[in-house]
Amino acid sequence: MSLHIGAASGDISDIVLLPGDPLRAEWIATTYLENPVRYSAIRNMLGFTGSYRGRRVSVQGTGMGQPSLAIYAHELLAEFGVRTVVRVGSCGGMQEYTRIHDLIVATSASTDSAMNLLRFEGLDFAPTADFALLRSFVDAAESAGLRHHVGQIFSTDSFYLDRPELRDRLAGYGVLAVEMETAALYTLAAKFGARALSVNTVSDSLVSGEELPPEDREHGFTQMVQLTLDTVAA
Ligand code: HPA
Repeated sequence: MSLHIGAASGDISDIVLLPGDPLRAEWIATTYLENPVRYSAIRNMLGFTGSYRGRRVSVQGTGMGQPSLAIYAHELLAEFGVRTVVRVGSCGGMQEYTRIHDLIVATSASTDSAMNLLRFEGLDFAPTADFALLRSFVDAAESAGLRHHVGQIFSTDSFYLDRPELRDRLAGYGVLAVEMETAALYTLAAKFGARALSVNTVSDSLVSGEELPPEDREHGFTQMVQLTLDTVAA
């Protein structure tokens, strides 16, 4: 058991899906996994292990933002021997062509967080996805005919930005979408020599102002989770 995850060693698979919302973790486990068992409910940040096509897979909620995700990712990687972590999240589209429902596969993540500036004493680390995992997921998205974009995203610490013009400047440099977790996930995976990927459904467009209604969010999420499970269990 670690400080924030109430599981015994061996309760968690070496492959973990990471939705931000703990109830989404429960939904993924009960919808897709055979014999799902809840291994932790500390702070209601639910985690489950079950099997998918004969492969043991876990799903752990992370909460919102890099400090919260970093607690769960660190403990999974440092104390439970996890080797593959995949964020399955939502994001805001920053380009005209990154429309709601689209999948964003993050090659790398810029951030306004100070976490890596502190970690690397001012050096500008480039948090990057695992290429093999990314390629497998993109191949699966192409075969399934799903609209997807592969490129850089922005992990912000502030959902409500005081200076949205900085985010808009990033859009001018080709950044596809904004969310709040990926830079920390990719950094921690690098630290522990693990594989990481972040895939996100566009739930709102910062260009058009459109938002996915709750019932549609589920559908977009369904395809993304299915593709992710097919990728990690292959
Ligand atoms: N900003 C930050 N995080 C998000 C957004 C957004 O617009 N949409 C989904 N996650």
